[in-house]
Amino acid sequence: MKLVQKKSLVLGIDTSCDETSVAVLLDEKKILANIISSQVKIHAPHGGVVPELASRSHLEALTPVLEEALQKAGVGLSDLTGIAVTSSPGLIGCLLVGLSFAKSLAYSLKIPLTTVHHLKAHLFSPFLEQDLEQNKVFPFLGLVVSGGHTALYYVSSFDQIELLGQTVDDAAGEAYDKVAKLLEMGYPGGPLIDRLAKTGNANAHKFTRARVKRGPYYFSFSGLKTAVSLLVKEEKKKGILSEEFKKDMAASFQKEVVEALIEKIEDVLKSHPAKALLVSGGVAANSLLRSRVAEVAANHHIPHTIPSLLICTDNGAMVAYIGAKQLERGEVAELNVNAASSLPMV
Ligand code: KG4
Ligand code: ZN
Repeated sequence: MKLVQKKSLVLGIDTSCDETSVAVLLDEKKILANIISSQVKIHAPHGGVVPELASRSHLEALTPVLEEALQKAGVGLSDLTGIAVTSSPGLIGCLLVGLSFAKSLAYSLKIPLTTVHHLKAHLFSPFLEQDLEQNKVFPFLGLVVSGGHTALYYVSSFDQIELLGQTVDDAAGEAYDKVAKLLEMGYPGGPLIDRLAKTGNANAHKFTRARVKRGPYYFSFSGLKTAVSLLVKEEKKKGILSEEFKKDMAASFQKEVVEALIEKIEDVLKSHPAKALLVSGGVAANSLLRSRVAEVAANHHIPHTIPSLLICTDNGAMVAYIGAKQLERGEVAELNVNAASSLPMV
């Protein structure tokens, strides 16, 4: 008698920061639905994410987002074979909302639960859209660059991940958001600065790049933010911030952030044989970073992959992808598993 293999249909949930996302992933790869409900409007008046508002909003959004995901995927709760949820790192209240929701679903549906590290989900998110054959892509150099993290990894397999360096203070996305606030532009700053930078002179302001003692592949962005704030203060003494000043500052700041990231990528590639360059996380949506990464990869004769904008920012599909792999290997979480605001990936 021929055995019919049961397909894997994994629900991925991410509530780590300010996006409530639920995805349905078929057989580890095919995204049937990836619904993202953004809280930008709630946090914009505050110029940044307010943790208490974020947790409450996840609580309200989760059920409708789940329903939308199931409907889009054309499946019912009883079709699911497993649940994957981000349990770290992130805002603790937000993580707990997602984790409790995932636990109750797994318990009531009697299906396994697995907990996923948010940065691992970002790191491997390029695999969702491209058929990155394992033997061709490993070892790869991975840059995860988002609102909360900026880190470089040397990845030899799904489980052999070496942290080469990370930011010692602000994440790149955090610097974007803070500088946008200084320039009175709104929130989130990344896309706004990206757009404005296209119209400014990137050489108008020169910044001194931070050298981090901790190691050759570590970053620091807080000094850059302070330098921008001093220049803004000087400019304000002359009156209101002119559009010209904002454009030039956006372009100069963006150039410095991107070149700081590119410099480290190039340094790593000199000493680490990498078969590919993978860039992910919210800041990977940046237009200048995307084009510079393409240039660097071409110079080193290696392919590069940056996911589409939807997969760059926080989403449930990337969580379901790692979760499906973990479930396949029997990595099932107990229902008393806890969330943690910060846990190392490796
Ligand atoms: O990955 P993500 O959605 O959330 C975190 O895990 O942090 O990243 C959000 C960050 C924000 O700081 C946002 O300003 C930044 O990504 N971002 C960008 C762009 N789009 C989003 N930064 C630079 N350029 C962009 N186009
Ligand atoms: Zn993220």
